[in-house]
Amino acid sequence: MAMKIWVVNGPNLGLLGKREPAIYGAASLQEIMALLAQRAAALGVELHNFQSDVEGELVQYIGRAIGAADGLIINPAAYTHTSVALRDAIAATALPCVEVHLSNIFKREEFRHQSLTAPVCLGTIGGFGTFSYVLALEALVEHLRQRASGCESR
Ligand code: DQA
Repeated sequence: MAMKIWVVNGPNLGLLGKREPAIYGAASLQEIMALLAQRAAALGVELHNFQSDVEGELVQYIGRAIGAADGLIINPAAYTHTSVALRDAIAATALPCVEVHLSNIFKREEFRHQSLTAPVCLGTIGGFGTFSYVLALEALVEHLRQRASGCESR
């Protein structure tokens, strides 16, 4: 059965392409997800994606991953820095999760240096624009495959 990975995108990411292109690039979220879907197909992975600007909707979507997804990729966007609810939702799934950022949050304003969600994730990838998502997918698939074969690297 194909590995199922759910991709969660938080607030304002629906505006990618128009939103601060010097920071976030010219690609729309739809274009990024299409690229990711291509990579997922090549890896034999079933991908689902969801975007919301509403914290509670993101929490509910993450909760639905229990028993349905094998792993999560999340760009919590601004909620990275504020949301205990999203952190608890990720932890509640007990699923391996990779946090993604288009920008390098550590190079930016100080309030972006803290992530409340990163400590409940397997790892974080940021600073590579669209390619951050591709790297996150590859890292998560590799982790899940190693776990399935019983030779987890961590
Ligand atoms: C972001 C970084 C966050 O600080 C910001 O609030 C976002 C996008 C990124 O992908 O670089 O909305 O998560």
